[in-house]
Amino acid sequence: MADSIRWGILGAGGIAGTVGPEIAATEGNEVVAVGARDLDRAAALAGRVGAPRPYGSYAELVADPDVDVVYIATTHGQHHDHALLCLQAGKPILVEKAFTLNARQAREVVMQARRRRLFCMEGMWMRLNPLIIKAQEIAASGRIGDVISVHADLSHLFPYDPKHRLYDLAAGGGSLLDLGVYPATFAWLFLGRPDVVQTTGALAPTGADASAAMQWGYADGRFAQVSCSAQGTNPLTGLVAGTKGWISIGKRVHRAPFITVHDDVDGDEEFRQTINGTGFDHEIAEVARCLRAGELESPRAPLDDTVAILEVLDEARAQLGVRYAADAST
Ligand SMILES: NC(=O)c1ccc[n+]([C@@H]2O[C@H](COP(=O)([O-])OP(=O)(O)OC[C@H]3O[C@@H](n4cnc5c(N)ncnc54)[C@H](OP(=O)(O)O)[C@@H]3O)[C@@H](O)[C@H]2O)c1
Repeated sequence: MADSIRWGILGAGGIAGTVGPEIAATEGNEVVAVGARDLDRAAALAGRVGAPRPYGSYAELVADPDVDVVYIATTHGQHHDHALLCLQAGKPILVEKAFTLNARQAREVVMQARRRRLFCMEGMWMRLNPLIIKAQEIAASGRIGDVISVHADLSHLFPYDPKHRLYDLAAGGGSLLDLGVYPATFAWLFLGRPDVVQTTGALAPTGADASAAMQWGYADGRFAQVSCSAQGTNPLTGLVAGTKGWISIGKRVHRAPFITVHDDVDGDEEFRQTINGTGFDHEIAEVARCLRAGELESPRAPLDDTVAILEVLDEARAQLGVRYAADAST
């Protein structure tokens, strides 16, 4: 491996245009290649991130011997096939959230990555946010007592457009995979796998979930309210409540600039951080750290969690009546 981690970007759409420059700007990392279905689009992004090699196909990108890791930045419906394409070519991968359409696809990708001993991680960047890690540490320390509930929501208005990735089932559309995966992961960090999931929501005319509200129940009485919507917007917060206090995640739960901790003894304490750029630098640095250390999974983003959270989202989608063609073989 060269001194810097050499990234290839697969797909040259919206998020690639945000994360790509962050990779190029994160010390010890460079983008050396961009592959897209269209060479001009690949070349345009390559120009922005200083990558010398644009490719007009994904096959050429994954065949590039000087790519150390591929960032898969396509739509949910394509992640499974693109992840397998990379792994079969011997490339470690960072796969944008949501990792795949469903848990079955995720298990397949994880199995291939483990069998080939290649690094693999879901791009759940919230997990690498230092303040989210701080919140986990505070909860684990007992400062807020026993955690009894989590409330988390991530909603953002996506005006209805049947061709937009959020509403197009072929692209893996739906608020749960696009937005809900964050509050679901947030609740998971503090409570783990629920025993019961009850879901209500609203479907778009395409059949994709436009909104979803889940109640997670635990046999011991703990609970979580986890919701998301593409039909409105909100402060995007998270709240962890315990027997002796609470932790509030300041707006936006997936890239929190501050958290407030309240306990019955010391009152309120606020922790703040400056977000560098768009805040993806922690995720990029973690991938680079793992690759340098020869770690095949990030302990901050375990693949077993990625699969298990998708199992919960599968159940929620089934309750809403949302099905992808890929669910047929589940
Ligand atoms: N982490 C975050 O904060 C964040 C924010 C937004 C989105 N995302 C995630 O990023 C991913 C992409 O979102 P986006 O907004 O970038 O989407 P997008 O711009 O609509 O599409 C991204 C790329 O997906 C590929 N693609 C689209 N439809 C395809 C199809 N039918 N077959 C094959 N490839 C297809 C295209 O690659 P080519 O360029 O090669 O044609 C396109 O440029 C999703 O997983 C989304 O959840 C993450």
